[in-house]
Amino acid sequence: MEAVDTGVRGRGDGMIVRAVVLAAGKGTRMKSATPKVLHEICGRPMLWFTLRALRDAGIDDVIVVSNEELDPQLAAFDVRSVVQREQLGTGHAVKVAMEQIDRIEGGRVIVACGDMPLVTPEIFRAMVGSLDGNGHAASAMALVTVKMPLPSNFGRIVRKGHDIERIVEVRDASADELAIDEMNAGIYAFDEAELREAVTALRNENAQREYYLTDTVEHFVRSGKRVRPVPVTEHEHVLGINDRVELALARREMNARLCAQHMRDGVTIVDPTTTYLEPELSIGRDTVIYPNTTISLLSEIGEGCTIGPNSRLSNVRIGDRVTIRESVVTESEIGSDTAIGPFAHVRGHAVLDGGNRVGNFVEIKNSHYAKGAKSAHLSYLGDAEIGEESNIGAGTITCNYDGKNKHRTTIGKNVSIGSNTSIVAPRSIGDNALTGAGSVVTKDVAPGGRVAGNPAKPLPQR
Ligand code: UD1
Ligand code: MG
Repeated sequence: MEAVDTGVRGRGDGMIVRAVVLAAGKGTRMKSATPKVLHEICGRPMLWFTLRALRDAGIDDVIVVSNEELDPQLAAFDVRSVVQREQLGTGHAVKVAMEQIDRIEGGRVIVACGDMPLVTPEIFRAMVGSLDGNGHAASAMALVTVKMPLPSNFGRIVRKGHDIERIVEVRDASADELAIDEMNAGIYAFDEAELREAVTALRNENAQREYYLTDTVEHFVRSGKRVRPVPVTEHEHVLGINDRVELALARREMNARLCAQHMRDGVTIVDPTTTYLEPELSIGRDTVIYPNTTISLLSEIGEGCTIGPNSRLSNVRIGDRVTIRESVVTESEIGSDTAIGPFAHVRGHAVLDGGNRVGNFVEIKNSHYAKGAKSAHLSYLGDAEIGEESNIGAGTITCNYDGKNKHRTTIGKNVSIGSNTSIVAPRSIGDNALTGAGSVVTKDVAPGGRVAGNPAKPLPQR
């Protein structure tokens, strides 16, 4: 076949680097209806992290080897995939992938696993460069090796003198080989032509009757080609997830990494072990996060805020100097200098312009608070518009639902809503109006109007 330039280049001297991510394994030890690589850590499927590390290393041309169950669910990842119909081993999986990608003379192929979410871009960058000889002959293959505590399920690196001779899988290993603590992490770089040739030559004469990708090592060594080890010192970076215990370990490690990154960027996290973050959050300097707080889904938080303890923020945009204590804020925008909580629930596209106060046991849904509007106690504001500097008294309810439809409430500027007012929507209350305590507002109130009672009626003129 003619060399085809796909135009996609990984970083590395104009050389074309592509990646194969293995994810067709059944993941039986997860005991789950969900494919293993779609289990989440820190708000993203674990496969997302492997793909991101590859992209961060400049490798954009990626093919995922999936199975029939996983494949339809890969649409969300914006990545090419190929189905390996029968899981005949890692070597077979790579062969299936290579049949799908164009042959490129002098190309390089990284092979990684979809169940290794803690892998870093630095590891992939190191792999890209590692096939070069640096004065010596170029290598056919490079592989990440790692010292691991024994016992371990990882394949063992068998060396002869200084050089790697082969990899032996645990189920095929002798007692002496099992005592080796240098292991195969399962991340490789290959010269593309060498890889194509080697995967075709694999045999499945082993304990698992599988085509082992790891047998390519012995194949290269026997034909006098170099196999280059790339040692990694942090074994947690190459933790492979096989069950939910390892999933929890990976989540803890990833969360610690995310917290550390924000702390280095100027955020105070009082207890990183009970602060749960996701990737792609933006948190401003001098913001302080107290324990038992979860922040998720592309949230943006400004500078000098106080968040937590015991709070959950999801998909929010928050200005500067905002305080959110013991509260839940989701899908909402909170302007600067606002104080929320304790025990408030702000949700459903609420927009608070700033300088607002939302106190204990207040729920706000799909409502807009103009600057300085306040509701300090025990209220429900749903589908409401609240004008500047208006004060919503304790126990106020917008009765927005008539059993069939939701209706809006509009409250003007500088309005004083008395304690325990019920506003039966759709209703509008004009600027500078007032409702007395216990009012049930069933008619619109004109600007400057003063009403009270059930049903609320205009008060006598002062
Ligand atoms: C593999 C390595 C082992 C290494 C370990 C690191 C082989 C033979 N062994 O062992 O040396 O220490 O990874 O984690 O490669 N997969 C497919 N199709 C298949 C089989 C597997 O896509 O037919 C995928 C799996 O989904 C997984 C990856 O390949 O993501 C590794 O397969 P797995 O069966 O877990 O290999 P290990 O026994 O862990
Ligand atoms: Mg495995």
